[in-house]
Amino acid sequence: MDKLVIRGGKPLSGRVRVSGAKNAALPAFCATILAPGRHVIRNAPNLKDVQTTIELLRRLGVVVDDSRLAAEHVAEIDTSRISSVRAPYDLVKTMRASILVLGPLLAREGKAEVSLPGGCAIGARPVNLHLKGLETLGASIRLQHGYIIAQAGGLKGAEFAFDVSTVTGTENLMMAAALAQGTTVLTGSAMEPEVTALAEMLVAMGADIHGLGTTRIEIRGGKPLHPVDFTIMPDRIEAGTYMAAAACTRGEVLVEGANAGHMEAVIAKFREAGVTVEERPEGLLVKSDGVRAVDVKTQPYPGFPTDMQAQFMVLMCMAKDGISVIAETVFENRFMHVLELQRMGADIRIDGHSAIIHGRGQLSGTSVMATDLRASASLALAGLAADGETEILRIYHLDRGYEKMEEKLKNLGADMERVKGAGL
Ligand code: EPZ
Repeated sequence: MDKLVIRGGKPLSGRVRVSGAKNAALPAFCATILAPGRHVIRNAPNLKDVQTTIELLRRLGVVVDDSRLAAEHVAEIDTSRISSVRAPYDLVKTMRASILVLGPLLAREGKAEVSLPGGCAIGARPVNLHLKGLETLGASIRLQHGYIIAQAGGLKGAEFAFDVSTVTGTENLMMAAALAQGTTVLTGSAMEPEVTALAEMLVAMGADIHGLGTTRIEIRGGKPLHPVDFTIMPDRIEAGTYMAAAACTRGEVLVEGANAGHMEAVIAKFREAGVTVEERPEGLLVKSDGVRAVDVKTQPYPGFPTDMQAQFMVLMCMAKDGISVIAETVFENRFMHVLELQRMGADIRIDGHSAIIHGRGQLSGTSVMATDLRASASLALAGLAADGETEILRIYHLDRGYEKMEEKLKNLGADMERVKGAGL
């Protein structure tokens, strides 16, 4: 497996373009199952998780032309034929978002066999609300040999209340409800921009959906849907990651294509910490000559996103002599990066669901290991900010969610390289 070697301490400067959002692309690819025919998805990021989703669709009999994905970020997806309803463990174990084929397969084919995702580094990640919601729409669901076996003689609209805000849970039910007979009302729905973007894609396919961007979504299902030519929204977490890279290194970077409307809580926190963030026509101009410690509490949208927690923690390590309390309220084990940051000299103490960071204004390079996608991003930021050399092992985690990260960072002046096949 590859590793990243970073020689830190250099301020980043220049312009970096944001790719399409991973967490909008994955549900969009799965939603094509709902309407037989040829779909075109544009601005799709060329990521490991997107390639896994393409492999999953192909296992279902879908014809995917990804020949233009790397160069033009375009995928052509023909869902005219579905020859299997089974999402196998070998794929689901590498990407939990595979669960997003459950709702569409059930709605279109009346059955689905999806491997239970199991836990992951950041938490148990149950899917009970996905299953309860689909049962409310009339599905019969049983668990057998580690698989979700779902059947439905025809889904029917119903009311369902989420007792926890779940992004993919809301997405699965919205997709299933789009083909259910009658009206479905989802309350307690997730409001993440990626959920709203999926609703916009379904509407473009002919679905009748109201309440976009609220926690009460009404889907009047039953009409057949038609294929779509749809463009993926920019990745707000990738944008926030490069904002943090600029701030951690006291640089000045224009994050091109960032949508400030999706990032209000993140922008507010950067500004509270003393980072200059200016909205420009092309994106967000970010510059910093030193930050102060601020507290953060992760929340479902529109709060501060849990996917930015690890990256922001590195910034708090660079605050001089301040105490920052970061509370992680969404996942139960999303502090794996703390252990590695401590090895780089960070002064962090974990107290339950909070991390208390005593900013020392510096970090020192060493060998560290990535454990999950956003933790590996935070280690890259730490390496950029640290004195000396940092090597990051197991960076396959990074490749799942960041397109050409080392290329984008080197274009901003980072002194780093990827060493093939050298990192555990
Ligand atoms: C999505 O995961 C994202 N992934 C995650 O991004 C993101 O961290 C998360 O939402 C929260 O914003 C994709 O969109 C592909 P959840 P998801 O269901 O949908 C509990 C990244 O780094 N829950 O919103 O799986 C769950 O345990 C990834 O890009 C239930 O209890 O997350 C958690 O505590 C990581 N029962 C909370 O809800 C359920 O049935 C939020 O989870 C479902 C969820």
